[in-house]
Formats: sequence, C-alpha cells, structure tokens
Amino acid sequence: MKKSLNITIALVAAFSLVSCFNNNKPNYQFMPNMYEPVGYETYGEYDVFENEQEAKLPAEGSIPRGWQPYEYDDTTEGLNLAKAESKNPLEITEDNISEGEALYTIYCAVCHGDKGDGQGILAQREKFLGIPSYADPGRDITMGGIYHVEMYGLNAMGSYASQTNEKERWQIAMHVMNLKAALNGEPSLLETAGVKTADSSNVEASTIEGDEMNTEAASQTSENETN
Ligand code: HEC
Repeated sequence: MKKSLNITIALVAAFSLVSCFNNNKPNYQFMPNMYEPVGYETYGEYDVFENEQEAKLPAEGSIPRGWQPYEYDDTTEGLNLAKAESKNPLEITEDNISEGEALYTIYCAVCHGDKGDGQGILAQREKFLGIPSYADPGRDITMGGIYHVEMYGLNAMGSYASQTNEKERWQIAMHVMNLKAALNGEPSLLETAGVKTADSSNVEASTIEGDEMNTEAASQTSENETN
C-alpha cells in the first residue's frame, strides 16, 4: 500500500515536471505511434511512389463526372465574351423557369431582391453596396453573362459554382432574364420563347443531360447521410 502510494507520488512528480504546457510550442507526444500510422497515407509524401503520393493523380485532361468544362476565363474579357456569345442550352419552359425562381430566392434574392432591382434585404441594410439592378443599361446583362458571374462571382458577389450544378445555373439565369424583362416592361421569356426557339440549332445541339447530374448530386447526398 505504502509502496504504491510512493509510486503514485513519484509519477505525479514526474508528470508535473514534463507536462508544463506551453501554448507556443507543440505539446509532447507520448507514444507517437498512436498518432502517426505505420502504413502509407493516401496523400503522404513517399519516395517509393511515382508522384511521391500513394494516391495516383488523374490522367491529364480527365474531367470529373457530372462536371462540364467552362471555357471562359475569370476576367473582364471573359465576362464580356460570355455576355456576347455564351448561350443557354436548356429549353425555355415553365418548369425550368420556376426551378430557377426557387433557386434564385434561395441564393440571390437576399442581395438582388425578389424583383431583381438590387433592393434585397442585405442591400436595404447596407451590408453590401453596389448591387445593381438587372435593368441597369450600362451592364447589358445577358443569359451568358449571368451564367458567368454565377460560375466565378464578381467582386463582392461570390461564386455559386459549388452550390449549384450546370443545369441549375442556367435555370437561375432564365429567371434573372425574366426579371430584367419585367423591370424593363418587356415581354417575358416564355412570351418571346417562340422567337428564341426558332434559333433551335443551339438548343438541340447541346442540351445538357441535367437529370443525370441531378441524380448524381442526390445520390451523393444520401451517401453522405449514411456515413
Ligand atoms: C452578397 C450579395 C450578392 C448575392 C447573394 C448575389 N449577388 Fe449578384 N451581384 C452582387 C454585387 C455586389 C454585384 C456587382 C458586382 C460588381 O460589378 O462589382 C452583383 C452583380 C451581379 C450581376 C451583374 C453582372 C454584370 O454583368 O455586370 C448579375 C447578373 C448577378 N449579380 C447575378 C446574381 C445571381 C444570379 C445570384 C444568385 C445565384 C447573385 N447575383 C447573388 C451581389 C450579390
């Protein structure tokens, strides 16, 4: 009994000597094998592997599933080019527009306002300044330009590329064009759709397989949930 008491006292004394914790330095690591695995780590660096990592790099030019290359640069020239020539590949339908409206309400309306006049709640509370009205003639907002800023953001506006997929971005862009038309007192997208789809070459040629993308996103979420 006495002996074990002595041992305890000795241990406490020993630990109180070494356990002075200093915030500026990493703490002592007792039994480092508990933390540092003996096996190779996927992203660890080792000479024995080709690219110094156990994980292989994807072959050059590979494209992740469900991701489409976007050819315009994140520059003013890129934006101007996208405004001028990037075209919406989806069909102008009520469904697409109402999907776009729902997403717009989630992601954009706080700043741009439900009507797209730049009077969202964050603008009214002056949390963000310089939010334009979509009808601002100086900006000449087009479908391709909207998609472009959704991809990359623009100054104070962030990118929405990680929250939305390609199809959703075009759907939002349609709704924004509708808002612009309404602000300018012009006919809505559906009303002019007859004119738009007459130029059907580009609509049919590159229609996105949006449903495939959506199911993929959905299955990913359910995977995450089960983990
Ligand atoms: C945090 C506030 C905020 C949110 C949220 C926001 N924007 Fe913006 N947006 C801005 C600001 C600020 C600008 C002006 C940027 C500039 O020109 O410097 C802008 C500019 C724009 C423009 C004009 C681009 C041009 O060609 O000049 C478009 C179109 C646009 N936003 C669409 C959207 C869409 C679509 C969403 C939702 C996916 C969205 N914004 C969400 C703040 C926001």
